[in-house]
Amino acid sequence: MDSIRIRGGKPLYGKIEISGAKNAALPLMVACLLTDETVTLRNLPHVADITTLINLLCQHGVKAHMNGHDGGSSAGRSICLTAEEITNTEAPYDIVRKMRAGALVLGPLLARVGKAKVSLPGGCAIGTRPMNLHVDGLEAMGAKIDIEAGYMVAEAPNGLKGAEIRFDTVSVGATEDLLMAACLADGVTVLENAAREPEITDLVLLLQAMGADIEGIGTDRLVVTGKPKLHGAEYSVMPDRIETGTYAMAAAITGGKVELTNTRADLIEAVIEVMEEAGITVERTENGMIVSRDPNSPILGVDVQTQPYPGYPTDMQAQLMALMTVSSGASMITETIFENRFMHVPELSRLGANINVHGRSAMVRGAKELVGAPVMATDLRASVSLVLAGLAASGETVINRVYHLDRGYERLEEKLAACGADISRAQGD
Ligand code: UD1
Repeated sequence: MDSIRIRGGKPLYGKIEISGAKNAALPLMVACLLTDETVTLRNLPHVADITTLINLLCQHGVKAHMNGHDGGSSAGRSICLTAEEITNTEAPYDIVRKMRAGALVLGPLLARVGKAKVSLPGGCAIGTRPMNLHVDGLEAMGAKIDIEAGYMVAEAPNGLKGAEIRFDTVSVGATEDLLMAACLADGVTVLENAAREPEITDLVLLLQAMGADIEGIGTDRLVVTGKPKLHGAEYSVMPDRIETGTYAMAAAITGGKVELTNTRADLIEAVIEVMEEAGITVERTENGMIVSRDPNSPILGVDVQTQPYPGYPTDMQAQLMALMTVSSGASMITETIFENRFMHVPELSRLGANINVHGRSAMVRGAKELVGAPVMATDLRASVSLVLAGLAASGETVINRVYHLDRGYERLEEKLAACGADISRAQGD
């Protein structure tokens, strides 16, 4: 297994081009199952989860054609996906367990061909991550779903019908799944307490370009009038707001100055607000932002709770914690979305961080300095928090099990090295 070696303590200076958003690209790719025409997606990030999803879609009969780099930009390439015929409706455990977003095929397959057999994703490092909201919503639309041997076995022989669905928890995945299914259902579907994450807006925009009738874009009430057919479309994936926030934290933690391009500040307002409170300077530009901190000015402690969008994102919790480990005060970070998302705490502690977890809250007291050590990546965002801490630590940090990072960060070492980080990858067995 590959590892990443960082010799920390160097402020980052330079420019980083942000890639397309993995969490937007995945549902956009799944949406190709809703039409027999071609869906072309541009600005696709080059990360492992995208490859995993291409494999899953191909197994359902989708023809995928990758077009290499997209224009002059190094970030992004385009893909043409054509689901002319669905040849197989099973999404196997082997793929879905690796990447929960694979389970998103459930609604679109049911809507298009009236049946689907999709593995339950199972738990993952950050929590149990159930599928009840997806299942209940599709059942309200007339599907019959049984759980058999770890699979959701679903059918809707007479097609799906519009329904009024109120989510009792805000779920990005369930909103996306039901939104896609509703586009081909018979009648009007109303999704109440829907997630408002920008990735949902991206999906709505693609679905509208495919001919779907959706009202309430950007709100927590989406009204979808089903159509018998959708058509092909071309669409460019939004910038990755989590990658944007992560590199903003990298500039901040090292006391450097980094321009983030090909992105949008409005996607991470909650993150910027917290960073400004912590004493970091964020200057908005036409295609991104410039993030800086004078190495002699302290990082101030902040109290933050993760929340559904537009609140502070759970996917930026670990990175903020890394930043707070070298603050000059105390911070309280509370995780409200996932029940077990503090696995980075013991690893950050190995570098000298002072963190105490009480239930869903972590009290972080700024340490004088972090000192490099070998650490273990446990999930995608936890891994990148170790990279951030390693960039700030003196001496050498070696991060093992970096396949977690490769799921969601495109050319991470290259992007950081271009700003002066001493970072390299060692190929493992
Ligand atoms: C997506 C993101 C992930 C992010 C998360 C929350 C993708 C590919 N992944 O994950 O990076 O951390 O949103 O912003 O976009 N829940 C239920 N029942 C369900 C579904 C979810 O109780 O049927 C709960 C979950 O356990 C969790 C909460 O709802 O506590 C939010 O999860 P959800 O928004 O669904 O996360 P994902 O869509 O899986």
